[in-house]
Amino acid sequence: MSDSPKTAVAARLATRDDLPTLEANETEKTRGLSATYLDEQDKGDFYVVVGLLGDEVGGRVILDCRDDDAVLTPEMKLLWVFPQARRQGLGAAMTQELEKLARSLDYDEIFLGVSADNNPAAIPMYVSLGYTPTGDHRNAVNLSVIDGSQAQEEDPTEAIFRKSLRVR
Ligand SMILES: CC(C)(COP(=O)(O)OP(=O)(O)OC[C@H]1O[C@@H](n2cnc3c(N)ncnc32)[C@H](O)[C@@H]1OP(=O)(O)O)[C@@H](O)C(=O)NCCC(=O)NCCS
Repeated sequence: MSDSPKTAVAARLATRDDLPTLEANETEKTRGLSATYLDEQDKGDFYVVVGLLGDEVGGRVILDCRDDDAVLTPEMKLLWVFPQARRQGLGAAMTQELEKLARSLDYDEIFLGVSADNNPAAIPMYVSLGYTPTGDHRNAVNLSVIDGSQAQEEDPTEAIFRKSLRVR
């Protein structure tokens, strides 16, 4: 009996060529957001990273570098591994690629908001990658590019997590 070889896992900045796959895997709530964030990437301030299983895109995550909210800059947003691609290391690979990107942009910390109710799988992953809760919470998930422009039916409480990117 032999284990089948593992598919290679990687992550990189998204390009327009990734859009059809990203759009085909949006949820009802996030429909259209990949295109919007790719437009924003062209303008600066936002970055879209995709995860790859072999040559196939299997998820995406956004880095929001706007400095209008200095407390949470930069912020990791909208981490999404397609359901069929989970538990193969993509979530961790994309998170680490985003950290690398943030470091290259001279940030020495990175933030995210996570809901224990809505994102139960994400919390053990973040903890295993070195994120810790700051103790702060907020009452919203901001899915839209422009804060507040997309009303949420329910605003889950999110815990703020932070990771230092400094190496001592
Ligand atoms: C959370 C999510 C991004 C994880 O992506 P993934 O590619 O499956 O995660 P990985 O394979 O990189 O897992 C890394 C580690 O995280 C932990 N983890 C991941 N999924 C887990 C789960 N369902 N239950 C418990 N731990 C989990 C494990 O420690 C795992 O390591 P292991 O597989 O060696 O045990 C994915 O489940 C997802 O997209 N969920 C829905 C959206 C979401 O919650 N996004 C986060 C928003 S804050």
